[in-house]
Amino acid sequence: MSTSSASITTSEFTNPNLEPLFSAEQIQARIAQMGAEIARDYGAKNPLLIVVLKGACIFASDLLRSVDIKLGIEFMAISSYGSSTRTSGEVRIVKDLDVPIEGRDILVIEDIVDTGLTLSYLMANLHARGAASVQLAALLDKHERRQREVSIDYLGFTIPDEFVVGYGLDFAERYRNLPYIAILKDPNA
Ligand code: IMP
Repeated sequence: MSTSSASITTSEFTNPNLEPLFSAEQIQARIAQMGAEIARDYGAKNPLLIVVLKGACIFASDLLRSVDIKLGIEFMAISSYGSSTRTSGEVRIVKDLDVPIEGRDILVIEDIVDTGLTLSYLMANLHARGAASVQLAALLDKHERRQREVSIDYLGFTIPDEFVVGYGLDFAERYRNLPYIAILKDPNA
């Protein structure tokens, strides 16, 4: 084994194919504001927060801890067919809720709204189960690409039409562990 191999970096977080967009500090500051707004708006309603796996898991874990009211959490997993950077619009529930939601105030926690196809399907699906209300908290809004109208009640940041990774968001299951959000410069690199 040559000693030169010790100098080869294995850092994922400083990968040159990533262009930082929002730092960990910027994300935390925005989430604290969102959490305070959610707590103020829901008050004593005991909302059920539905986290959309996998992308929203890191955002949700931070957001939850800044919402200082009584609440519950559940998880769903949705798969949308398409390439690794573009969704096709065909949506399927891969993991469903374990509890009925009739009469509950639902807050869906999502990482990013892109075309809006996934969320418009999911919001309609939850309404149809008899929820008292269904609202949406999304960390990122890629508004330029919207094909289906989706109302985002609590939004972290609006972003340009770029493919972003980190803080839960992936490219082919990679980069979810970045503590910040970055533009992926070359998906083929
Ligand atoms: P939509 O149905 O087009 O709104 O797509 C929503 C889903 O596509 C998100 O929940 C993400 O999983 C994925 N997605 C869309 N844009 C990006 C991105 O820039 N980075 C990572 N995932 C993305």
